[in-house]
Amino acid sequence: MTAIDGDRLLARLDALAQISSGGPGVNRLAYGQQDVVARDLVAVWMTAAGLTVTLDEATNLIGRLPGRGGCSRLLVMGSHLDTVVNAGPLDGAYGVLAAIEVAAASHSLEHELVVVAFANEEGARGTAGLSGSRAIGRPSTVDLDALDDDGVSLAARVRGAGGAPDAIGHAAWVDGSVVAYVELHVEQGPILDRSGCQIGVVEAITGQRQFDIEVLGEANHAGTTPMEGRRDALVAAAELVLAVERLAADGGARVATTGRCVAEPGVRNVVPGRVHLAVDLRDTDAGRLETATGELLAAAQRIGSSRQVAISVERLHDVVATPCHGAIRDAVAASAEQLGLTWRSMVSGATHDGQSMSAIGPVGMVFVPSTGGVSHAPTETTPPDDLVNGANVVLATIVQLDRGALCDHTVSAGES
Ligand code: GLV
Ligand code: MN
Ligand code: MN
Repeated sequence: MTAIDGDRLLARLDALAQISSGGPGVNRLAYGQQDVVARDLVAVWMTAAGLTVTLDEATNLIGRLPGRGGCSRLLVMGSHLDTVVNAGPLDGAYGVLAAIEVAAASHSLEHELVVVAFANEEGARGTAGLSGSRAIGRPSTVDLDALDDDGVSLAARVRGAGGAPDAIGHAAWVDGSVVAYVELHVEQGPILDRSGCQIGVVEAITGQRQFDIEVLGEANHAGTTPMEGRRDALVAAAELVLAVERLAADGGARVATTGRCVAEPGVRNVVPGRVHLAVDLRDTDAGRLETATGELLAAAQRIGSSRQVAISVERLHDVVATPCHGAIRDAVAASAEQLGLTWRSMVSGATHDGQSMSAIGPVGMVFVPSTGGVSHAPTETTPPDDLVNGANVVLATIVQLDRGALCDHTVSAGES
Protein backbone atom coordinates (compact mmCIF):
# COMPACT_ATOMS: atom_id res chain seq x y z
CA MET A 1 0.00 0.00 0.00
CA THR A 2 1.24 3.52 -0.77
CA ALA A 3 2.48 5.44 2.26
CA ILE A 4 3.37 9.04 2.99
CA ASP A 5 7.02 10.12 3.36
CA GLY A 6 7.25 10.06 7.17
CA ASP A 7 10.85 11.25 7.42
CA ARG A 8 10.10 14.31 5.32
CA LEU A 9 6.97 15.08 7.35
CA LEU A 10 8.91 15.00 10.63
CA ALA A 11 11.82 17.04 9.21
CA ARG A 12 9.44 19.71 7.91
CA LEU A 13 7.62 19.90 11.23
CA ASP A 14 10.96 20.62 12.89
CA ALA A 15 11.88 23.20 10.25
CA LEU A 16 8.54 25.00 10.57
CA ALA A 17 8.83 25.12 14.36
CA GLN A 18 12.00 27.21 13.92
CA ILE A 19 9.92 29.97 12.32
CA SER A 20 8.98 31.81 15.47
CA SER A 21 9.38 35.33 16.78
CA GLY A 22 11.12 33.93 19.89
CA GLY A 23 10.55 31.53 22.75
CA PRO A 24 9.50 29.82 24.83
CA GLY A 25 7.81 27.52 22.33
CA VAL A 26 6.58 28.60 18.92
CA ASN A 27 5.25 32.13 18.47
CA ARG A 28 3.64 32.73 15.12
CA LEU A 29 0.70 35.01 15.72
CA ALA A 30 -1.79 35.23 12.86
CA TYR A 31 -0.93 37.73 10.10
CA GLY A 32 2.43 38.56 11.68
CA GLN A 33 5.80 38.41 9.98
CA GLN A 34 6.60 34.85 11.10
CA ASP A 35 3.17 33.64 10.02
CA VAL A 36 3.80 35.02 6.53
CA VAL A 37 7.32 33.52 6.39
CA ALA A 38 5.90 30.12 7.38
CA ARG A 39 3.14 30.46 4.79
CA ASP A 40 5.70 31.22 2.06
CA LEU A 41 7.76 28.16 2.97
CA VAL A 42 4.66 25.97 2.97
CA ALA A 43 3.78 27.37 -0.48
CA VAL A 44 7.17 26.13 -1.71
CA TRP A 45 6.46 22.66 -0.26
CA MET A 46 2.98 22.63 -1.82
CA THR A 47 4.45 23.50 -5.22
CA ALA A 48 7.08 20.77 -4.86
CA ALA A 49 4.24 18.30 -4.22
CA GLY A 50 2.71 19.24 -7.58
CA LEU A 51 0.00 21.56 -6.21
CA THR A 52 -0.95 24.80 -7.91
CA VAL A 53 -0.80 27.44 -5.18
CA THR A 54 -2.84 30.62 -4.66
CA LEU A 55 -3.42 33.01 -1.78
CA ASP A 56 -7.07 34.06 -1.41
CA GLU A 57 -8.45 37.43 -0.27
CA ALA A 58 -8.56 36.26 3.37
CA THR A 59 -4.90 35.07 3.17
CA ASN A 60 -5.78 31.38 3.10
CA LEU A 61 -3.03 29.51 1.26
CA ILE A 62 -4.66 27.07 -1.16
CA GLY A 63 -2.94 24.28 -3.10
CA ARG A 64 -4.83 22.35 -5.79
CA LEU A 65 -4.08 19.02 -7.44
CA PRO A 66 -6.34 18.28 -10.43
CA GLY A 67 -8.25 14.98 -10.45
CA ARG A 68 -9.31 12.74 -13.32
CA GLY A 69 -12.66 14.46 -13.41
CA GLY A 70 -14.87 11.64 -12.15
CA CYS A 71 -16.58 14.13 -9.86
CA SER A 72 -16.63 17.91 -10.02
CA ARG A 73 -16.63 18.44 -6.26
CA LEU A 74 -13.50 18.94 -4.16
CA LEU A 75 -11.80 16.64 -1.67
CA VAL A 76 -10.30 19.04 0.87
CA MET A 77 -7.73 18.70 3.65
CA GLY A 78 -6.38 21.50 5.80
CA SER A 79 -5.48 23.12 9.08
CA HIS A 80 -3.60 26.26 10.11
CA LEU A 81 -0.07 27.67 10.54
CA ASP A 82 -0.73 30.43 13.10
CA THR A 83 -0.19 29.69 16.79
CA VAL A 84 -1.19 30.91 20.21
CA VAL A 85 1.47 32.62 22.34
CA ASN A 86 4.18 30.18 23.53
CA ALA A 87 2.66 27.33 21.53
CA GLY A 88 3.84 23.86 20.66
CA PRO A 89 5.08 22.79 17.21
CA LEU A 90 2.11 20.61 16.16
CA ASP A 91 -1.20 22.43 16.65
CA GLY A 92 -2.23 23.24 13.08
CA ALA A 93 1.16 22.82 11.39
CA TYR A 94 0.85 19.03 11.62
CA GLY A 95 -2.44 18.97 9.71
CA VAL A 96 -1.15 21.22 6.93
CA LEU A 97 2.17 19.42 6.42
CA ALA A 98 0.56 15.98 6.62
CA ALA A 99 -2.00 17.08 4.01
CA ILE A 100 0.85 18.03 1.66
CA GLU A 101 2.39 14.57 2.17
CA VAL A 102 -0.97 12.96 1.45
CA ALA A 103 -1.26 15.00 -1.76
CA ALA A 104 2.31 14.03 -2.73
CA ALA A 105 1.47 10.35 -2.21
CA SER A 106 -1.91 10.44 -3.98
CA HIS A 107 -2.15 9.16 -7.51
CA SER A 108 -4.93 9.40 -10.02
CA LEU A 109 -7.74 10.56 -7.77
CA GLU A 110 -11.09 11.20 -9.41
CA HIS A 111 -11.58 14.39 -7.40
CA GLU A 112 -9.54 17.54 -7.38
CA LEU A 113 -7.59 17.45 -4.12
CA VAL A 114 -7.25 20.74 -2.26
CA VAL A 115 -4.95 21.54 0.67
CA VAL A 116 -5.70 24.69 2.66
CA ALA A 117 -3.55 26.45 5.26
CA PHE A 118 -6.29 28.55 6.85
CA ALA A 119 -5.52 32.02 8.20
CA ASN A 120 -5.98 32.94 11.86
CA GLU A 121 -7.49 29.77 13.28
CA GLU A 122 -6.41 30.62 16.81
CA GLY A 123 -7.77 34.10 17.30
CA ALA A 124 -4.81 34.66 19.61
CA ARG A 125 -4.69 38.38 18.84
CA GLY A 126 -8.04 38.83 20.58
CA THR A 127 -10.49 38.90 17.67
CA ALA A 128 -12.48 35.74 16.90
CA GLY A 129 -10.54 32.78 15.53
CA LEU A 130 -11.29 30.66 12.43
CA SER A 131 -11.41 33.86 10.38
CA GLY A 132 -9.77 32.35 7.28
CA SER A 133 -12.07 29.33 7.21
CA ARG A 134 -15.09 31.49 8.07
CA ALA A 135 -14.33 33.57 4.96
CA ILE A 136 -14.56 30.35 2.93
CA GLY A 137 -17.48 28.60 4.65
CA ARG A 138 -19.38 31.12 6.78
CA PRO A 139 -18.52 34.54 5.35
CA SER A 140 -21.32 36.35 7.18
CA THR A 141 -19.52 35.66 10.48
CA VAL A 142 -16.29 37.50 9.56
CA ASP A 143 -16.13 40.82 11.39
CA LEU A 144 -13.48 42.87 9.56
CA ASP A 145 -14.04 45.89 11.81
CA ALA A 146 -13.30 43.99 15.02
CA LEU A 147 -10.31 45.41 16.90
CA ASP A 148 -7.73 43.09 18.40
CA ASP A 149 -5.87 43.47 21.70
CA ASP A 150 -3.48 45.94 20.04
CA GLY A 151 -6.37 48.02 18.68
CA VAL A 152 -5.74 46.91 15.07
CA SER A 153 -8.74 45.93 12.93
CA LEU A 154 -9.02 42.51 11.36
CA ALA A 155 -9.19 44.26 7.97
CA ALA A 156 -5.82 45.92 8.57
CA ARG A 157 -4.29 42.63 9.70
CA VAL A 158 -5.56 40.81 6.60
CA ARG A 159 -4.29 43.60 4.32
CA GLY A 160 -0.90 43.62 6.06
CA ALA A 161 -0.50 39.90 5.44
CA GLY A 162 -1.15 40.21 1.71
CA GLY A 163 -4.94 39.79 1.63
CA ALA A 164 -7.70 41.94 0.20
CA PRO A 165 -10.27 42.68 2.91
CA ASP A 166 -12.37 44.83 0.58
CA ALA A 167 -12.86 41.83 -1.70
CA ILE A 168 -13.06 39.18 1.03
CA GLY A 169 -16.44 37.99 -0.29
CA HIS A 170 -14.57 36.40 -3.20
CA ALA A 171 -12.91 33.99 -0.76
CA ALA A 172 -16.24 32.20 -0.13
CA TRP A 173 -16.79 28.80 -1.69
CA VAL A 174 -20.11 27.61 -3.12
CA ASP A 175 -22.27 25.51 -0.80
CA GLY A 176 -22.04 21.89 -1.94
CA SER A 177 -18.69 22.31 -3.73
CA VAL A 178 -16.89 20.10 -1.19
CA VAL A 179 -17.44 16.35 -1.25
CA ALA A 180 -15.52 15.93 2.04
CA TYR A 181 -13.26 18.00 4.28
CA VAL A 182 -10.81 15.96 6.38
CA GLU A 183 -8.56 17.52 9.04
CA LEU A 184 -5.77 15.76 10.88
CA HIS A 185 -4.81 17.23 14.25
CA VAL A 186 -3.14 16.36 17.52
CA GLU A 187 -5.84 15.61 20.09
CA GLN A 188 -4.68 18.36 22.49
CA GLY A 189 -6.22 16.45 25.41
CA PRO A 190 -5.47 13.27 27.38
CA ILE A 191 -7.98 10.72 26.05
CA LEU A 192 -5.86 8.87 23.45
CA ASP A 193 -2.68 9.06 25.51
CA ARG A 194 -4.39 7.65 28.62
CA SER A 195 -6.20 4.91 26.75
CA GLY A 196 -3.16 3.89 24.71
CA CYS A 197 -5.19 4.23 21.53
CA GLN A 198 -3.40 5.32 18.32
CA ILE A 199 -6.15 7.07 16.36
CA GLY A 200 -9.14 9.21 17.36
CA VAL A 201 -12.18 9.20 15.08
CA VAL A 202 -13.90 12.48 15.86
CA GLU A 203 -17.68 12.27 16.27
CA ALA A 204 -18.29 15.96 16.89
CA ILE A 205 -16.40 19.20 17.50
CA THR A 206 -17.28 21.32 20.50
CA GLY A 207 -19.34 24.50 20.31
CA GLN A 208 -17.78 27.67 21.70
CA ARG A 209 -19.06 31.02 22.95
CA GLN A 210 -16.61 33.87 23.45
CA PHE A 211 -17.12 37.10 25.34
CA ASP A 212 -15.16 40.33 25.69
CA ILE A 213 -15.99 41.87 29.05
CA GLU A 214 -15.16 45.38 30.20
CA VAL A 215 -15.33 46.31 33.87
CA LEU A 216 -15.32 50.07 34.44
CA GLY A 217 -14.67 51.35 37.95
CA GLU A 218 -12.72 54.36 39.09
CA ALA A 219 -8.94 54.71 39.12
CA ASN A 220 -7.66 56.42 42.26
CA HIS A 221 -4.67 56.73 44.58
CA ALA A 222 -3.83 53.39 46.30
CA GLY A 223 -2.52 55.10 49.43
CA THR A 224 -5.15 57.71 50.09
CA THR A 225 -8.41 56.21 48.85
CA PRO A 226 -10.29 54.57 51.79
CA MET A 227 -11.22 50.89 51.30
CA GLU A 228 -14.91 51.66 51.73
CA GLY A 229 -16.40 53.28 48.66
CA ARG A 230 -13.66 52.21 46.27
CA ARG A 231 -14.81 51.23 42.79
CA ASP A 232 -11.98 48.79 42.15
CA ALA A 233 -12.47 47.26 38.70
CA LEU A 234 -9.99 44.45 39.31
CA VAL A 235 -11.63 43.20 42.51
CA ALA A 236 -14.98 43.15 40.70
CA ALA A 237 -13.32 41.33 37.79
CA ALA A 238 -11.87 38.78 40.22
CA GLU A 239 -15.39 37.97 41.43
CA LEU A 240 -16.49 37.60 37.85
CA VAL A 241 -13.60 35.23 37.06
CA LEU A 242 -14.76 32.98 39.92
CA ALA A 243 -18.32 33.19 38.60
CA VAL A 244 -17.06 32.07 35.16
CA GLU A 245 -15.38 29.06 36.75
CA ARG A 246 -18.68 28.16 38.46
CA LEU A 247 -20.43 28.12 35.06
CA ALA A 248 -18.75 24.75 34.52
CA ALA A 249 -19.90 23.29 37.85
CA ASP A 250 -22.05 20.13 37.80
CA GLY A 251 -24.55 20.22 34.96
CA GLY A 252 -23.18 23.50 33.59
CA ALA A 253 -21.04 24.11 30.54
CA ARG A 254 -18.37 21.45 29.91
CA VAL A 255 -15.57 23.99 30.39
CA ALA A 256 -15.46 27.71 31.19
CA THR A 257 -12.28 29.79 31.09
CA THR A 258 -11.17 33.37 31.58
CA GLY A 259 -8.03 33.36 29.45
CA ARG A 260 -7.10 37.01 29.61
CA CYS A 261 -7.31 39.72 32.26
CA VAL A 262 -5.78 43.14 31.68
CA ALA A 263 -6.04 45.78 34.38
CA GLU A 264 -5.52 49.47 33.73
CA PRO A 265 -3.58 51.48 34.40
CA GLY A 266 -1.71 48.42 35.69
CA VAL A 267 0.38 50.20 38.29
CA ARG A 268 0.98 48.99 41.88
CA ASN A 269 -0.06 52.23 43.54
CA VAL A 270 -3.23 52.92 41.57
CA VAL A 271 -6.65 51.36 42.28
CA PRO A 272 -7.49 49.73 38.92
CA GLY A 273 -10.09 51.71 36.98
CA ARG A 274 -10.69 49.40 34.05
CA VAL A 275 -10.31 45.69 33.34
CA HIS A 276 -10.69 43.65 30.16
CA LEU A 277 -11.56 39.96 30.47
CA ALA A 278 -11.68 37.42 27.63
CA VAL A 279 -14.03 34.53 28.41
CA ASP A 280 -14.44 31.20 26.59
CA LEU A 281 -17.30 28.69 27.18
CA ARG A 282 -17.45 25.33 25.43
CA ASP A 283 -19.96 22.51 25.12
CA THR A 284 -21.39 20.36 22.35
CA ASP A 285 -24.85 21.08 23.81
CA ALA A 286 -26.19 24.46 22.66
CA GLY A 287 -28.75 24.45 25.49
CA ARG A 288 -26.07 24.28 28.16
CA LEU A 289 -24.15 27.11 26.48
CA GLU A 290 -27.33 29.18 26.44
CA THR A 291 -27.95 28.55 30.14
CA ALA A 292 -24.35 29.38 30.99
CA THR A 293 -24.61 32.59 28.97
CA GLY A 294 -27.66 33.64 30.98
CA GLU A 295 -25.82 32.91 34.23
CA LEU A 296 -22.80 34.91 33.07
CA LEU A 297 -24.96 37.94 32.28
CA ALA A 298 -26.74 37.63 35.63
CA ALA A 299 -23.40 37.42 37.48
CA ALA A 300 -22.14 40.51 35.64
CA GLN A 301 -25.26 42.42 36.64
CA ARG A 302 -25.07 41.29 40.29
CA ILE A 303 -21.35 42.02 40.69
CA GLY A 304 -21.63 45.33 38.85
CA SER A 305 -24.29 46.61 41.18
CA SER A 306 -22.75 45.28 44.41
CA ARG A 307 -19.34 46.79 43.57
CA GLN A 308 -20.60 49.95 41.89
CA VAL A 309 -18.83 49.27 38.62
CA ALA A 310 -20.19 49.15 35.06
CA ILE A 311 -19.77 45.76 33.42
CA SER A 312 -20.42 45.40 29.70
CA VAL A 313 -20.43 42.00 28.05
CA GLU A 314 -19.88 41.69 24.29
CA ARG A 315 -20.57 38.34 22.65
CA LEU A 316 -18.41 37.41 19.67
CA HIS A 317 -19.68 35.18 16.83
CA ASP A 318 -20.37 31.66 18.14
CA VAL A 319 -18.60 28.60 16.86
CA VAL A 320 -21.44 26.09 16.52
CA ALA A 321 -20.97 22.51 17.70
CA THR A 322 -20.34 20.41 14.62
CA PRO A 323 -21.16 16.74 14.07
CA CYS A 324 -18.70 14.87 11.86
CA HIS A 325 -20.22 13.05 8.89
CA GLY A 326 -20.87 9.34 9.38
CA ALA A 327 -19.36 8.34 6.03
CA ILE A 328 -16.10 10.13 6.86
CA ARG A 329 -16.00 8.63 10.35
CA ASP A 330 -16.50 5.18 8.84
CA ALA A 331 -13.74 5.79 6.29
CA VAL A 332 -11.31 6.90 9.02
CA ALA A 333 -12.11 3.88 11.22
CA ALA A 334 -11.79 1.49 8.28
CA SER A 335 -8.47 3.10 7.31
CA ALA A 336 -7.11 2.72 10.85
CA GLU A 337 -8.11 -0.95 10.84
CA GLN A 338 -6.60 -1.50 7.40
CA LEU A 339 -3.31 -0.14 8.80
CA GLY A 340 -3.54 -2.30 11.96
CA LEU A 341 -3.96 0.72 14.26
CA THR A 342 -6.18 0.93 17.33
CA TRP A 343 -8.86 3.62 17.25
CA ARG A 344 -11.72 5.03 19.29
CA SER A 345 -14.51 7.54 18.77
CA MET A 346 -14.25 10.82 20.64
CA VAL A 347 -15.39 14.42 20.81
CA SER A 348 -13.04 17.34 20.09
CA GLY A 349 -12.82 19.80 22.97
CA ALA A 350 -10.88 22.24 20.79
CA THR A 351 -12.41 24.21 17.93
CA HIS A 352 -11.21 23.63 14.38
CA ASP A 353 -11.50 25.06 10.86
CA GLY A 354 -13.79 22.17 9.92
CA GLN A 355 -16.52 23.97 11.85
CA SER A 356 -16.52 26.69 9.22
CA MET A 357 -16.19 24.18 6.38
CA SER A 358 -19.22 22.23 7.67
CA ALA A 359 -21.46 24.96 6.22
CA ILE A 360 -20.51 23.92 2.67
CA GLY A 361 -20.02 20.15 2.91
CA PRO A 362 -19.45 17.09 5.11
CA VAL A 363 -16.51 17.25 7.51
CA GLY A 364 -14.47 14.74 9.49
CA MET A 365 -11.39 14.78 11.73
CA VAL A 366 -8.61 12.39 12.66
CA PHE A 367 -6.74 12.74 15.96
CA VAL A 368 -3.41 11.37 17.13
CA PRO A 369 -2.30 11.29 20.79
CA SER A 370 -0.92 14.33 22.59
CA THR A 371 1.66 13.19 25.13
CA GLY A 372 0.34 13.97 28.61
CA GLY A 373 -2.65 15.69 27.00
CA VAL A 374 -0.66 18.93 26.70
CA SER A 375 -1.27 21.53 23.97
CA HIS A 376 -1.23 25.32 23.59
CA ALA A 377 2.05 25.07 25.49
CA PRO A 378 5.73 24.68 24.48
CA THR A 379 5.79 21.09 25.79
CA GLU A 380 3.17 19.90 23.29
CA THR A 381 4.48 16.72 21.68
CA THR A 382 3.39 13.48 19.98
CA PRO A 383 5.54 10.38 19.35
CA PRO A 384 6.90 10.42 15.76
CA ASP A 385 5.32 7.05 14.89
CA ASP A 386 1.90 8.39 15.86
CA LEU A 387 2.41 11.46 13.66
CA VAL A 388 3.30 9.28 10.67
CA ASN A 389 0.43 6.86 11.39
CA GLY A 390 -2.07 9.72 11.45
CA ALA A 391 -0.96 10.96 8.03
CA ASN A 392 -1.21 7.43 6.59
CA VAL A 393 -4.73 7.11 7.98
CA VAL A 394 -5.66 10.32 6.18
CA LEU A 395 -4.12 9.04 2.94
CA ALA A 396 -6.16 5.83 3.15
CA THR A 397 -9.26 7.86 4.10
CA ILE A 398 -8.87 10.15 1.09
CA VAL A 399 -8.47 7.16 -1.24
CA GLN A 400 -11.67 5.63 0.20
CA LEU A 401 -13.64 8.87 0.01
CA ASP A 402 -12.49 9.40 -3.58
CA ARG A 403 -14.32 6.23 -4.57
CA GLY A 404 -16.87 6.19 -1.78
CA ALA A 405 -20.50 6.74 -1.07
CA LEU A 406 -20.40 10.50 -0.57
CA CYS A 407 -20.02 11.19 -4.26
CA ASP A 408 -22.83 8.95 -5.42
CA HIS A 409 -25.58 11.16 -4.05
CA THR A 410 -26.18 14.81 -3.39
CA VAL A 411 -25.16 15.67 0.15
CA SER A 412 -26.84 18.61 1.79
CA ALA A 413 -24.69 20.90 3.93
CA GLY A 414 -24.28 19.75 7.51
CA GLU A 415 -25.73 16.29 6.84
CA SER A 416 -24.45 13.78 9.36
C1 GLV B 1 -8.28 26.53 19.08
O1 GLV B 1 -7.16 26.08 19.11
C2 GLV B 1 -9.11 26.42 20.24
O2 GLV B 1 -9.75 25.38 20.43
O3 GLV B 1 -9.09 27.36 21.04
MN1 MN C 1 -5.41 23.79 15.86
MN1 MN D 1 -4.90 25.83 18.87
